[in-house]
Amino acid sequence: MLDEYGFLRGAELDEGAVPALYHFVYCSRAAEGVDDAEVDRIVEAAQRHNLARGITGVLVFGSGIFFQWIEGPAAQMQNLVASLHGDPRHHDIVTLSQSEEERERLYPNWDMEKVEAEDIRVVLRDALENTDDKDNIAALTRILQQLDTGPIHALGRA
Ligand SMILES: Cc1cc2nc3c(=O)[nH]c(=O)nc-3n(C[C@H](O)[C@H](O)[C@H](O)COP(=O)(O)O)c2cc1C
Repeated sequence: MLDEYGFLRGAELDEGAVPALYHFVYCSRAAEGVDDAEVDRIVEAAQRHNLARGITGVLVFGSGIFFQWIEGPAAQMQNLVASLHGDPRHHDIVTLSQSEEERERLYPNWDMEKVEAEDIRVVLRDALENTDDKDNIAALTRILQQLDTGPIHALGRA
């Protein structure tokens, strides 16, 4: 049913609508003693938790630095972001992007995929090439620009 302005109303409004998705992108420094085996344990547990909570994303680990893109329903994401901030296995969390909007997932098939990379820019450029979503393109472009000048650059060098 259309209203007087020609917009869909009521139940029809929800049909086919892209659900609101919260995304949180950050980088952090791994705590002393966190090695590849520990990162594998983090990823294994994350995959179980994320599957149950409708969260997807990617975790990049290289040179003692984490970069993570996570996306999912806002309420579940808020709990995870709080847990991440209290997790002693990493510190110096720098938020690169965080918002809620109607858009498609960037990583719909990954509960949490570990990617090893010397340079996370390779992962981001790859993601950029594989998305048509304008919000994803804007976020990724902004993060790539930040990498050359912003706090993540300092993290990598310290
Ligand atoms: C770098 C890093 C990435 C993480 N990613 C996730 C994740 O994607 N999903 C998840 O459930 N936990 C993740 N964790 C673990 C969480 O910080 C937390 O330990 C876990 O969600 C259990 O939290 P809870 O004890 O508050 O339930 C990650 C931890 C680190 C250090």
